[in-house]
Parts: sequence; structure tokens; C-alpha cells
Amino acid sequence: MCGIVGILGTAEVAPHIVDALALLEYRGYDSAGIATLDGGKIDRRRAEGKLRNLRNSLAEAPLSGRSGIGHTRWATHGAPTKGNAHPHVTPRVAVVHNGIIENYRELGDEVTGAGIVLQSETDTEIIAHLITLELDAGKTPQAAVAATLKRLRGAFALAILFTGHDDLLIGARHGPPLAVGHGDGEMYLGSDAIALAPLTSSITYLEDGDLAVLTRQGAEIYDAGGKPVQRPAQQSVASAFRVDKGNYHHFMIKEIFEQPEVIGHTLAHYSDLANDRIAMPEMPVDFATLERLTICACGTAYIAGLVAKYWFEKVARLPVDIDIASEFRYREVPLAAQGFALFISQSGETADTLAALNYCKGAGQTIGALVNVTESSIARGADIVLPIYAGPEIGVASTKAFTCQLAALAALVIFAAKARGTIDEAEERRLVRSLAEVPRHMLDAFRQEEKIKTIAQGLTKVRDILFLGRGTSFPLALEGALKLKELSYLHAEGYAAGELKHGPIALIDQTVPVIFLAPDDDLYEKTVSNMAEVAARGGRVILISQNDRIAEWQGRIESSIELPDADPFVMPIVAAVSVQLLAYHTAVFMGTDVDQPRNLAKSVTVE
Ligand code: AGP
Repeated sequence: MCGIVGILGTAEVAPHIVDALALLEYRGYDSAGIATLDGGKIDRRRAEGKLRNLRNSLAEAPLSGRSGIGHTRWATHGAPTKGNAHPHVTPRVAVVHNGIIENYRELGDEVTGAGIVLQSETDTEIIAHLITLELDAGKTPQAAVAATLKRLRGAFALAILFTGHDDLLIGARHGPPLAVGHGDGEMYLGSDAIALAPLTSSITYLEDGDLAVLTRQGAEIYDAGGKPVQRPAQQSVASAFRVDKGNYHHFMIKEIFEQPEVIGHTLAHYSDLANDRIAMPEMPVDFATLERLTICACGTAYIAGLVAKYWFEKVARLPVDIDIASEFRYREVPLAAQGFALFISQSGETADTLAALNYCKGAGQTIGALVNVTESSIARGADIVLPIYAGPEIGVASTKAFTCQLAALAALVIFAAKARGTIDEAEERRLVRSLAEVPRHMLDAFRQEEKIKTIAQGLTKVRDILFLGRGTSFPLALEGALKLKELSYLHAEGYAAGELKHGPIALIDQTVPVIFLAPDDDLYEKTVSNMAEVAARGGRVILISQNDRIAEWQGRIESSIELPDADPFVMPIVAAVSVQLLAYHTAVFMGTDVDQPRNLAKSVTVE
């Protein structure tokens, strides 16, 4: 989950590289660095921490040169120090890398065995030395890189500069994404189209195993077997999405408040709202006869899939197998012939999810991708892409993507239920109407923000928080806990409310806030009986429910957050606002870096 960029420019490249890195910071921000070729010689600046530290370093000691590479890092091998920051250099090459080389230790032994003293703890430095040894043996830059790639086991996207070769930049991809940008007398490499958006919208995506040799005249691309291949250049839409915070303090809060609008965009693509009917694209599978659906994802995207499991099974009577991708890909799951596997991913680049997709593809499954980035690796590996139209999500904690995933999944559930005959037209209209009302209900939910801020302030004084729910409120309890821990660094756990008495109830005392997601649905009574168990043990109960239900508990609970009167089918989408705002404001009070929480990255492109 690092970001890499390279430029063969017609003018000084350092400022453009830093600007591109700023668009890649969502991929990781433990350190950043840049190297340029000036008069054929490599020069480098690196800085620990955020990109602003590299900008300061460049302000003190500018870099010149018309060829350069840059990197923003999420640490895998080696602590997030300046010494481990990319680019890694030898007298002959400079290398930036996104990925993990699994056999770097044995390769490192070979390098040190050749008398080389390593300067860092990284796998990337090993790559730089291996390429240099091949150059020293007389190979051309392209042959030296090709020979080195054959020895690497693991995942890599690379950009490489060569001393004395001002008009040469080599890129290679095996796993993490890498794109070639076509400029006017300039050429570029980048982890994604967003990074290159200020420079070009003409993008060629490299495929796994590709090696690209760039000069200012263009790119020659070779496949894993070393054969020249043509990869199509396409007009990227990423350039249309130049984003800023507007008058919000953080991208996250901006994206929370964008949800009514972008959910409307998503629903407009999957339903005929004027007639309360579903309008899905042509599906490559027949839901009427589908026996089982596999869903795979990570993090918040997995939680969206978990909500959808309840919907598919209850409304469409379709059994769903769902798992987190990092487990699924190694379980060797026996899959039904001609099954349908749906992969949910905001970035479309999550390595575990992509690996699970490739496993299912190899098992003959039809592949669906529910993504926010339609040019992503997961989208390109699918038989059908279902975009979520959330617009770029910059905050590392996923908010609008989550609710847009839920909106699109809800539409797919209704489509499947119609195909399977488990709902009639009247029920279809009712469910579509309930979806159409989500944006309005979200506006009501926003009105709880001041009350949520007060609760959030109280949470900053505790160390453990529990979120409990039943039915589709159980995944929402997981999401509330995930949001709170990844943003505020407080320990929070989400649990099925009915599971409390099987152990976790031992945690309950007057120091532990327990947040109950208990909308007024068919499981409300069951959930509040668990709430009474907590209250009876002096637990601090915070109830999230409709107003009249909250009134029943006045005086017996510490606090509450009111839910709008939305249909139970769409309540997980509407109630997401409550847990998002709670996590956001707790983080603000804690003073954490809301848009880029420590240790995280927006797109986890390594396993
Ligand atoms: C969500 O708030 C987290 N940042 C994280 O769990 C994220 O959902 C997960 O990494 C999956 O990312 P994806 O949707 O891009 O695949």
C-alpha cells in the first residue's frame, strides 16, 4: 500500500512528483522520497512522516532534473524511518517499490555476500543492488531489470531510474497496480490514474508480469514472457475528480455529509425511482436458478457484504457464503460449478480481495465486482462491474463508499428477489421506495450531531467500548467498532447482542460504555433484553433507536442517539451515519489524524 510515481519530463520534475505523491498519500504516509537524474547523476531527498516533511526538505535543498521518481510509503519491511524511505539507490540505479518481496532475505544474503553493505532494512534496497549487479555484468538496463524480476517472489510495482540514461524510465508490475501515462513529449508512471490526473488523462494499465520501457517518445511494453505486447491507452475519468475539503475540516466529515447525494447517484443507476422499480444492468448469471452466492471482501467492505447476506437470505431466499478475503483465499473453498462470486472493494486494489477473486476465477466462477474505482484491478478482473458512484473517497476511514455499497447491494437483492419470485411487484415498489427515502432519512440523522458530539466527548475518557446489535444491526455494530478503533485508537468491539451472555458480559462494569444498535424492528425486544442485562450490572448503556423506544428507557440509560423512522430494510444504511459521526467526533476530541490515522492506508495492496 505505497504510492509510486515516475516522470520523464520536458522541464524540472521535482514539484510535479511531489504533487503526484500528494494524490497518492491515501496509499500510505509513513515516509516519502524523491530521486531525480541531473546531468545523468542520481540525487535524492527523503523524509520520515507526512509528505509535508519532504516538501520542507526540498525547500531547503531543491532537486533539479527532468527525470525523476517518487514514493510515499506504508511500512512493510523496516521501520518507518528516513533510512528505510524510498527511493533506494546504488551508484547506478534509483528504485521505488510498492509491494512485498517474500524471498528478500535469501536475495539479501547474496547481495551482502558480494561485499555490499546494506543501508536499510528494506526488501526494495535488495532489488536496487540486484539490478546493479546485472548492469555491472554488462546487461542493458532492460535486460538487467528483466533478469532481476525473474528472481523476485512476491508482489511488486516498480519504477526505476538509471544513471547516465536521462531519457529512460522502466516500470514493472506483478500484483500491485501500475499505470503508464502518455503526455506531450513526456511520459509517466503511477500507482493509479488519480496520481497522474494533473499530468494526463491518457492512461495505459499494465497487466500482471508486464515490463514497460519508457522514453519521452512513448512506451514499449513486454509481457511476462518478454514478448512485446500492445496495451490499450484509455481516457481516464480520474482527472475529473480533483478533490479538496471545501469548507470542511476533514475529508471524512465532508464525505459523511456527501452521503445523501452520492447514494442518490448510486440508486439512480440501479433503479427507476420515478416508477419505484429496480433497473439493474444485464447480469451474467441467472439469479432465478443460482443456488448459492459467494461474497468476499475486507474491512468495511466485508461488513457491507455481511449486511447483504442478511438481505439476500431473508428477501431473495438466496444462501450466501461470505468471508474476509485474507481467510477465504487460503481456505480452498469447494465452490459450486458455475457459481457467482461477488467482490466488494472501494479501491478495487485490495490485494487479499484480488487474490480471492483470482481463486474464484480459477474455480470457474462468474465474477462480480462492486467497486468505486471502475478502472481498478478488481474491476478489470470481473465479468460484471457494479460501480457505486460514491466519487473519490479520500478519508482513509470508509464512509460514503460503505453506504453506497449498501445501496447498490440492496438494489441487487431486490433484483434477485424479483428473479426468484420471492417478492411481487407491490413489494418491489415498497422496497425501492424505502431506498429512495434513504437520503431524506440521512438528513434527519445528521440532526443528532450535537448530541453525538457530547457522547463522543465522554468516550474519550474510556479504554474499552462495546457495540451490540442483532440481525442487520450486528454488522453495523462491527462497523461502529471498526470506525471507532481505526479513528480514535480506542479499543472497541462489535458483537452480536445475543452473544453477550456467552462471555463478553464479563467485561461489563461502570467503566465500559455499551452502545446498543436497536432500531424498532422485529428483533428490538430481544436486543433490549440484552440491554437490560447490561444495565442490571451497572453497565453504561447508550441506546441508538427511534425516539418513542428511547422514551421507554429514560432514566435507565446513560444516553441515546435518535434514529429516523426508516423502513427496517434500509435501516443499516441510515443508522451508519450515527456510528460514523460518533467515531469522527471521538477522533476529533482525541486529536488523532482523522483523514490519515496512524498505521493505516486507504488501499491495502499487499497481503
Ligand atoms: C475502512 O474504514 C478501512 N479503511 C478498511 O477496513 C477498508 O474498508 C478495507 O481495507 C477494504 O478496502 P477496499 O474497500 O478498498 O477493498
